[in-house]
Amino acid sequence: MLQGKEIILGVCGGIAAYKAAELTRLYIKANANVHVVMTRAAQEFITPLTFQTLSGNPVHTDLFNLYQESEISHISLAERADICVVAPATANVIGKLAGGIADDLLTTTLMATRAPILLAPAMNVNMWENSICTDNRQRLQNNGYRILDPISGMLACGWEGKGKLPEPAAIFAKTLELLTPNDLAGRTVLISAGPTREEIDPVRFISNYSSGKMGYAIAAAACQRGARTILVSGPTCLPQPHGVERIDVTSAQQMRTAMLNHAPQADIIIKAAAVADYRPATRADQKIKKSDDLDMILALEKTPDILAEIGEDKGRAILVGFAAETENLLDNAAAKLEQKNLDLIVANDISQEGAGFDGDTNIVRLLYRGGRIEELPLMTKEAVANQLLDRILGLTL
Ligand code: CTP
Repeated sequence: MLQGKEIILGVCGGIAAYKAAELTRLYIKANANVHVVMTRAAQEFITPLTFQTLSGNPVHTDLFNLYQESEISHISLAERADICVVAPATANVIGKLAGGIADDLLTTTLMATRAPILLAPAMNVNMWENSICTDNRQRLQNNGYRILDPISGMLACGWEGKGKLPEPAAIFAKTLELLTPNDLAGRTVLISAGPTREEIDPVRFISNYSSGKMGYAIAAAACQRGARTILVSGPTCLPQPHGVERIDVTSAQQMRTAMLNHAPQADIIIKAAAVADYRPATRADQKIKKSDDLDMILALEKTPDILAEIGEDKGRAILVGFAAETENLLDNAAAKLEQKNLDLIVANDISQEGAGFDGDTNIVRLLYRGGRIEELPLMTKEAVANQLLDRILGLTL
């Protein structure tokens, strides 16, 4: 979670500087406070006004600016930082940092800070592979700098190879990871998310309104906290959370196979998926045509209850289910906790404002074995995900 975090974002002179604008937007959306420091060359590619508008903070460009502040800029920036991110980081700035040269606001700030530093380099492939640049990066890594390698592709200079700045979402995810406790390191978390689709014929299916947002938020949070994270996902429109292993499925039967295959490796299993409880007893091979009868009766059969099946043989894993209810929330959830042999169930009343399937927030109650109930206030699905992982970790102690 980036809420209230102070991020110093260094922008160097390279064509990828425009991507730093999108990165700023992502940080701001996550409620971080962003202070942008631009090198002189960066200002040739993008204006300070862009970053000032996006971050809502003055942009820092000069080491000696008598008008900007009464404090000494590089020291105050270095001290307030929870993390410093440089994107794009050029070969020049990497070289200066490795050589201990601090001749502008960005390099002095980075040298004066005790906060973690993440560099996201972008440059021509030959510069990236140049042995001096390689040695410089090694030196920085030996001194605790984190480097997010560039990706391969067509470079702005016309060359093909490694040197492109990673997507802003990847830099954002890495920033989150560095600011998040690594308390799930060494654990494997298996999560299911989204709806399932049960086919009637080649063009129709039975499904539900689940967006998958809650399960994806848990997967992203588990991964940021260091877990090997496996996400079994029904059909959703959501982007793959960075670093998560995603297995796409469509039907309840496919979800069952994927979950049972991976359950033995998992320390924590969380079933946030909204599995269809019934499927057509037969799937028509061809599109079903209208007939002259007024009504049509579709015969349905039960799908496997995946969570209950895992609950029968969960071994040492912590097993967590979800209960989406529209009435008798606590009674229904408590019954599922018992029947499916869960350690914890997350109950949400989906008829409540702020707790629906498709929203970005949720209001949940956590029911534990032994009858304890914990009520969490309205919060974002990311916050619910982290609170849930905190509670699950508590159960493993
Ligand atoms: N679940 C499952 N397999 C199913 C149905 C549900 O694994 N075939 C899991 C869900 O992923 C969720 C929990 O069981 O973690 C509860 O799902 P829910 O739909 O709330 O309850 P059901 O058990 O399906 O009961 P009902 O629909 O009658 O409320």
